[in-house]
Amino acid sequence: MDSRLLAFNIYRKTIDGGGIENKEIKNIPAENVAFVKRLVQMTLRRQEFLKQIINKFMRQKIIQKPNNMQILLLLAAVEILYFDTPDYAVVNSYVALAKKINNKYAAGFVNAVLHKICYNKEKIVACKPLPFFPFPFRKMLQSSYCSKKIDSIETAALKEPDLDITVREDPEFWCRKLGGKLLGNGTVRLKQTGNISALDGFAQGAWWVQDFSSSLPVIALKDIKNKTVLDLCAAPGGKTAQLIAKGALVTAVDISQKRLKILEENLERLNLKAQNIIAADALQYLNNCSQFDIVLVDAPCSADGTLRRHPEIVHTRNIDDVKKNALLQHQLLAKAAKAVKNKGKLMYAVCSMCKQEGEQQIDSFISNYPNFKIFPILTENINPFHHLGYEKIITEKGFIRCLPDMLEGMDGFFAACLQKISE
Ligand SMILES: C[S@@+](CC[C@H](N)C(=O)[O-])C[C@H]1O[C@@H](n2cnc3c(N)ncnc32)[C@H](O)[C@@H]1O
Repeated sequence: MDSRLLAFNIYRKTIDGGGIENKEIKNIPAENVAFVKRLVQMTLRRQEFLKQIINKFMRQKIIQKPNNMQILLLLAAVEILYFDTPDYAVVNSYVALAKKINNKYAAGFVNAVLHKICYNKEKIVACKPLPFFPFPFRKMLQSSYCSKKIDSIETAALKEPDLDITVREDPEFWCRKLGGKLLGNGTVRLKQTGNISALDGFAQGAWWVQDFSSSLPVIALKDIKNKTVLDLCAAPGGKTAQLIAKGALVTAVDISQKRLKILEENLERLNLKAQNIIAADALQYLNNCSQFDIVLVDAPCSADGTLRRHPEIVHTRNIDDVKKNALLQHQLLAKAAKAVKNKGKLMYAVCSMCKQEGEQQIDSFISNYPNFKIFPILTENINPFHHLGYEKIITEKGFIRCLPDMLEGMDGFFAACLQKISE
């Protein structure tokens, strides 16, 4: 399939809430897949900015979700403005696509708008490509942050993130070997690389991909050797791998068979073994399970914190997703509380920036469960390499609160550690 048509199909599906299926890219050469991914991701990051530009050139404005012809205009504009392809080649290809997808009239229209973009190219490229956030996404964040903070998050999240890896042993060695940068928690940060599985140490299971922020809760648990851990919502297993690598005896539970298969493949490559891997709804599983030293609830959430790597999130999430997930998180926490041994720990985590899924969720839990207390996470516990500024990601109450504009950039994330003080 023509790469631009594939990009169009994937874009349409993505903003309608679907993901990229492997079968769609199975028979496509790797360099074309890389081109399509870069084009789609960059267009998702530039959609709101380019909507404003394109709207100046046409009478039928793009109001909210772009229609087919408008998607073609957005993809073409990104290629003209930010790719090296010659302008005439881009215009000709998208005019042909417009004929195929829409009609001759649309093709003429696409041609006219794209010529205006080519003509104004230098001026447009010189602009900061903001806004990134459409109104419903901004409104969702307004329930947690002031406008100035949201602006700062928006600018930081626009930047394509580097690749973070968690190293099983000796991060300093792997940092030198891979030419990366060592962060305070031990994460090795690499400049974006093409084929991750071709990097040194991947095949031998020396490391796995995991964003800086999501590695923090398990690091904060410190010494967990021989402790029993119930890892709820475990797949694809980034935290499971960390737990096992630190010597914990892990029972991993996830509702998705498909994602558990990825967890199993990851553990196999890393030569790590869980005690149990269970496909189940955590809410059901918790009805009748034994107690553990530590229960990790890495709860399903709006995932808005992963917007740097998944820019489609800003176009598909709104406050309703936050409310729906907050309800499930509340139920999970209530049931997970029973599975914690007396004096044991309950670690709660979400890759969400919204306080309804983070700080507020834990405040409400603590007021409903007086037999639990906050076990404050200390800066030194998540910063074994003693880098400066890490106190910024710990709140006054001792929670981890990460946002994309903090330190050198990270996913939005929240974690809190609680201790059961009586049955
Ligand atoms: C944030 S991801 C977990 C990431 C994982 N802990 C890691 O570190 O790689 C959330 C997971 O929750 C799972 N999930 C969603 N609802 C669930 C439920 N009711 N019971 C168990 N797992 C659930 C999803 O399948 C998904 O794998």
